[in-house]
Amino acid sequence: MTDKKYELTNLSSGKKSILEARSGTLGPDVLNIANVTRDHGVFTFDPGFMATAACESKITYIDGDEGVLLYRGYPVEQLAEKSNFLEVAYLLINGQLPSAAQLAEFVHAIQYHTMINESLLRFFNGFQYNAHPMAMLSGVVASMAAFYHDSTDIHNPRHREIFAHRIIAKIPTIAAAAYKHSTGQPFMYPRNDHDYCANLLNMFFSVPCENYQVDPVAAQALDLLFILHADHEQNASTSTVRLAGSTGTNPYAAISAGISALWGPAHGGANEAVLAMLEQIGTAENIPKFVAKAKDKNDNFKLMGFGHRVYKNRDPRATIIRAMCHKVLAKLGKSDNPLFELALRLEEVALKDEYFIERKLYPNVDFYSGIIYSAIKIPQSMFTVMFAIARTVGWVAHWQEMISDPGMKIGRPRQLYAGPERRDYAEMSNRG
Ligand code: ACO
Repeated sequence: MTDKKYELTNLSSGKKSILEARSGTLGPDVLNIANVTRDHGVFTFDPGFMATAACESKITYIDGDEGVLLYRGYPVEQLAEKSNFLEVAYLLINGQLPSAAQLAEFVHAIQYHTMINESLLRFFNGFQYNAHPMAMLSGVVASMAAFYHDSTDIHNPRHREIFAHRIIAKIPTIAAAAYKHSTGQPFMYPRNDHDYCANLLNMFFSVPCENYQVDPVAAQALDLLFILHADHEQNASTSTVRLAGSTGTNPYAAISAGISALWGPAHGGANEAVLAMLEQIGTAENIPKFVAKAKDKNDNFKLMGFGHRVYKNRDPRATIIRAMCHKVLAKLGKSDNPLFELALRLEEVALKDEYFIERKLYPNVDFYSGIIYSAIKIPQSMFTVMFAIARTVGWVAHWQEMISDPGMKIGRPRQLYAGPERRDYAEMSNRG
């Protein structure tokens, strides 16, 4: 697909080169800039990848101006309404919706690999009880590379499949172990007779001394949140998984790198930060003060859960979650949730404010997700862990796509060097 061509001219020397554009199935064309360095001896400069497509992918499409999100071509709204998390996981990883038999096989593979090696469980004893669960999650997931030696040939498709099943099946178990460690309660083993989200809730909230019934409303809400968080094309954590994976490293190590990238408040950590912010704002009267802080260039405060690198319109996931908040809170008998009321009011004020209008800042996926997590009793420090469980599917899909591409190259950006020119080592006595 190279029908469009662009010309690049060095205005000093007059040297020209032709850049070919490649068209995807949807979205803007990309310019192949390979000739720029060869013909002109310069690199391109794009800090933050504002204008750079780092790879070709068939997994997820976003139109940030129109607020569109497609997984393998299917609108996320349709998947949220009709599908479930494990079917979406199959779709993202395999490219097609499964037949009934394919889905049953996939679900069985996930549901029957939920236990983790007992030695991995003992790792938790090395963490302080108040360690952030994302620190435990990234550490223990990286440690999985020290187990499961039977399936780490990344060039073997069956090994890659086993890895995919293992990480998707076991990451809820690791997350629950991190939670139980932080509460001092005994770890609860996974239940293979529960579906994915019910099993997760059971491991979180059951205790050995009494019966626990998973609330189906909570399990359903979690499943929907997981669908919405499952993938988002080349975001920071997915790009991190791709970059780490491009070296041929063990895939568990690559996923651990993704977890670390997700943790930051500008990315997945925002869901935790939104709740902290709403609690800090406290009441509707304080909203103008905090909106003013968010607009003040001399203040680091930002409206957490607002703004997105790609969406310059409503984030379609936020729209779904906002509607879901009404339903879930009503079903749980918590319709008068004060934090939700505050969030709605804050959204209303920000969306009428010239600063947010001009910069096209809308609520993103994380503005409302924390309210649902709280309503189903997930503690604030575990919000980003929840995101990581869901996004593991996207990371696996992208890692698989990259590794199975015969043209894969190690990711290795270049730089604009702005440090000192060559200089000679100065003896201690000659240093000013
Ligand atoms: N509150 C106040 N101002 C903001 C916000 C915000 N939440 N977000 C962006 N802006 C302002 C910036 O200060 C900048 O203003 P300027 O043009 O006057 O300098 C302008 O809007 C553009 O913002 P950038 O930071 O340049 O946009 P970028 O694409 O680099 O960043 C990001 C996007 C990181 C999401 C940013 O909007 C942000 O920090 N938001 C809050 C954190 C958050 O919710 N992150 C979750 C993102 S979704 C996810 O990862 C799951």
